[in-house]
Amino acid sequence: TAGAAPAFAASPAAASVASADSLAFDPDGYTEITTTISTGDGDKEVTYHFWSAITYVTDPVDETYQSLTVSVPVSIDGTAVDATDAPILVSNSIGGYLPSSVSTNTGVSSSRAQLAIAAGYVAVEPGARGRTLVDSSGDYYGTAPAAIVDLKAAIRYVRYNAGTIPGDTDKIVTAGTSAGGALSALLGASGGSSLYDDYLSELGAADADDVIYATGAWCPITDLENADGAYEWNWGTNTLSSGEEVDQDVSADLTALFETYQSGLGLTADDYGTITADNLDDYLLATYLEPSATSYLADLSDDDRTTYLSSNTFITWDGSAATFSWSDYLDHVGHRGKDAPAFDAFDLSAGENNEFGLDTTEARHFTDYSLANDTSGTGGSSLDSDIPGKLDMMNPMYFIGDGNDDRAKYWWIRTGTKDTDTALTIVGNLALSLENLGDDVNAALYWDAAHGADEDPDDFITWIGDVTG
Ligand code: DHB
Repeated sequence: TAGAAPAFAASPAAASVASADSLAFDPDGYTEITTTISTGDGDKEVTYHFWSAITYVTDPVDETYQSLTVSVPVSIDGTAVDATDAPILVSNSIGGYLPSSVSTNTGVSSSRAQLAIAAGYVAVEPGARGRTLVDSSGDYYGTAPAAIVDLKAAIRYVRYNAGTIPGDTDKIVTAGTSAGGALSALLGASGGSSLYDDYLSELGAADADDVIYATGAWCPITDLENADGAYEWNWGTNTLSSGEEVDQDVSADLTALFETYQSGLGLTADDYGTITADNLDDYLLATYLEPSATSYLADLSDDDRTTYLSSNTFITWDGSAATFSWSDYLDHVGHRGKDAPAFDAFDLSAGENNEFGLDTTEARHFTDYSLANDTSGTGGSSLDSDIPGKLDMMNPMYFIGDGNDDRAKYWWIRTGTKDTDTALTIVGNLALSLENLGDDVNAALYWDAAHGADEDPDDFITWIGDVTG
């Protein structure tokens, strides 16, 4: 009755129930927003319900980062939509392994999340800790594996609230670009792994699993402990933008390490057999680079194609397909973006050195080679004992190599042919290792595109519908 209600509301039992389940999603805690979203199919007027920054763990280290937003479309161009069973796109905006916050967002933020709600899907945008965060005692609290632990906690929060949070929690799709693409790929590859459990329970993550259905990854900066060698194998003959060569001995050493690594992967491709450092260039050329140029050229007008081909005479165009050599492609790209080693810098100056910082140590080596060649004066005789385990926790290739059955089985992988932030082999090996496990992989390169490109955003949204439908 109306008279009894205040007494119940104030009762200790009611209060303790509320605090015991502070991870319960409040279905009514939204604001309604109407906005215009431009899509490949024209502008759409979307009315959606927006839940601003929800802390996704019970014991956050820093709520500014450990929170997520939820956006659920309710009408599109005046037609009501019901997203109860829609796929859920979990789209991060992490770059550079830096901290990423959604805590002050006032609506759906990234263009990828906007396209998702304009297609009738649910969009979750999670924040996560990043490598530069330091507390008052000087402790780095956002270094590896903080970002992936936070993202997994966000996934667990969503699944824990199945039935009250709109969307189908069996159809969670992740997305991200660069470091965010690496973390998206890692979410997909490591789903269901118990490796992170201690970190997750320390934060009070929700009691649910973190299995991902499908994963989108753009220019993932991943496989970090093998990326220096991959970089030299790929870009080793290119000069820096200053015109200078990198240290050729270092480049040769790292290339040799990569050759061993590539053979050890034991990946196979039709028409090639085992992919080694010797046939990898031919494989990448025929599988990705030539088809990328072909589709770019096919889409140009006859005049524009003629102009492009006359200033890029290394390409042979037979009227329907582009062919060229690997070394001409490398010349076409021109300069390399990074010095050698690209990721584990001898002087600890790379962002990735900071990503593997610990406690009050801002940056550490994570490869034996760079440790042995340390110029920072802080290197010991062997990698710190926690490093191998952290490398595994940060590397999708570890889980794929292990054949993790709980991994995502649908993959959308993209990068630009002029992206020299990492080697093309990173994307090539990620895609091929998943194909070798039998997964459904949609991988392609954007011709002449630089780091961070996404040239077919609407196709990704369509793909989500296809693979979840
Ligand atoms: C990113 C770019 C890099 O070159 C790198 O080493 C790590 C991350 C990024 O754009 O997220």
